[in-house]
Amino acid sequence: MSGMRFARHGEWNMRDNADLHEKITAILHELKFDYPSRPEQLKILIKDRNGVPVAFLQPVSVEFVGENQFIKILADWREKNWDAYPTVFKVTMEGTGKWVNDQLINRDDRILFLISAPDGKPAGHLGLSNFDFTNCEAEIDNVVRGAHNVLPGIMTTALEVLVEWSFTRLGLKRLFLRVFYDNARAIKLYERCGFKGVKKIPLNKIIDGEVIRYEEIQEGQNLKIDRYFYLMEKHNESSGR
Ligand SMILES: CC(C)(COP(=O)(O)OP(=O)(O)OC[C@H]1O[C@@H](n2cnc3c(N)ncnc32)[C@H](O)[C@@H]1OP(=O)(O)O)[C@@H](O)C(=O)NCCC(=O)NCCS
Repeated sequence: MSGMRFARHGEWNMRDNADLHEKITAILHELKFDYPSRPEQLKILIKDRNGVPVAFLQPVSVEFVGENQFIKILADWREKNWDAYPTVFKVTMEGTGKWVNDQLINRDDRILFLISAPDGKPAGHLGLSNFDFTNCEAEIDNVVRGAHNVLPGIMTTALEVLVEWSFTRLGLKRLFLRVFYDNARAIKLYERCGFKGVKKIPLNKIIDGEVIRYEEIQEGQNLKIDRYFYLMEKHNESSGR
């Protein structure tokens, strides 16, 4: 311990961030690989205002790889909500299955949670991605209500639970997200959960065969503005920032 007192400021930060990186990837790994054997211990409960569990966050874990019934649900939700995503492509079972394996399970800095009703039926999903371990930040990812007319208000409560868990369990200092500026319903959800708008980011639409992509226009690029992202953020008030 005593030797650490002489570490320069930058070295302190590097050490802290390496610890945070290791801690977070270990937590995400445990959720993705150990959930099937310890669901009761690892599920994250979503409670109503009276403290009664109404649903839970269930990590998309190894048990879902190659599970066609589950992959079909994800593919259907992706297809139905195409307008909320910056990339639009032909959704297939094969592509969705590969995405689950490569981008959710085997990427150590990303996680998707199903919002599951007590009977196990999923109502939607949301997750975390694009971790910045140096600044202790991550991006809210893939927020979708899949089942309508069930669990009113669950997307709000689930996001509140994910935010709280990210700050307390993972130790993040800031969460951010990018939502299309014309997506009023989603912006309303994020504002209800305490996210504040930071800036509008201009986007250029690119049509590449059957794929449509919206790409952020960088400073100095003289491209047509077709749409905007809205960058929103929420700080961990107890992290001293
Ligand atoms: C964005 C999206 C997730 C919001 O879902 P949602 O169903 O509106 O969210 P909630 O489950 O929190 O429900 C909120 C609604 O239920 C009502 N409600 C009822 N009980 C509630 C409760 N206990 N708590 C909060 N809201 C409650 C709210 O008033 C609100 O209705 P309103 O918008 O008419 O005022 C959903 O519209 C969606 O999946 N959109 C497509 C994908 C998308 O755009 N994702 C965002 C990408 S950035």
